[in-house]
Amino acid sequence: MHYDDQGAGIPLLFIHGYPLNRRMWEPQIASLADIARVVAPDLRGHGDSETAPSPDGDPQTYSMDLHARDCAALLDAMDIQQPVVIAGLSMGGYIALSFYRQYPERIAGLVLAATRAGSDSADSVLNRMEAVELARHSGIEAIAETMLPKLFSPHSYDTLPDLIPNVRNIMQTISLEGVAGDQLGMIDRPDSTPLLAEIEIPTLLIHGADDQIINIEDMDSMQAAIPSSQLQVIPGAGHLVNLEQPDIFNKAVREFILNLE
Ligand code: MLT
Repeated sequence: MHYDDQGAGIPLLFIHGYPLNRRMWEPQIASLADIARVVAPDLRGHGDSETAPSPDGDPQTYSMDLHARDCAALLDAMDIQQPVVIAGLSMGGYIALSFYRQYPERIAGLVLAATRAGSDSADSVLNRMEAVELARHSGIEAIAETMLPKLFSPHSYDTLPDLIPNVRNIMQTISLEGVAGDQLGMIDRPDSTPLLAEIEIPTLLIHGADDQIINIEDMDSMQAAIPSSQLQVIPGAGHLVNLEQPDIFNKAVREFILNLE
């Protein structure tokens, strides 16, 4: 598992979304390493991390629990035993919730960005199976082309010309096993809604006002259900809110972390 590890202070583990890698957190690593030890891994099958070949050639399922166990094993390997802040975006948020379910004592605070607690609808399951087939027949580039028009706010398409090629480059590093593994894992993920009321740690929810993938209603319901939570809605941002409005995103995470101590 490859990862970035910068700065000193409370450990801050960033978990990337699908079909991305740790490079999506570059603006956060640069900005927050003065107050935290920022750790950002590439999940298995993504970026520079390895892809375990399937023994029988069938696609493997990278369950959200498996990704969360990989993250816990990384913290163990780094000898980080103190509670950490976990920040996950979208699929990274599903993994953060799984991490909380498995290791609640290892988390000091949660940042859940552009994510949801519920499991997949029947339509989502079909879309995910189609994505697996598309990647197999037409390659990763085809996945990027279907996703790029949905990821950003109109404001970002107009004002951030480098963002789309940068995100396309990040997406091109996912393996075919990673696409299938994540999609099958997201299909299998349980409904985390019942967990929300049990979350006993401070939680910051961040949502881009123009997100086309996650509804504001999903974020509102999470905020209502998690006892010690706050929701920040960031204008001029879509699904990749941390890349579209990095200054506002970083300020929110910075204040959240400073208030934990
Ligand atoms: C992500 O950004 O991680 C994915 O769009 C999440 C999903 O497909 O549910």
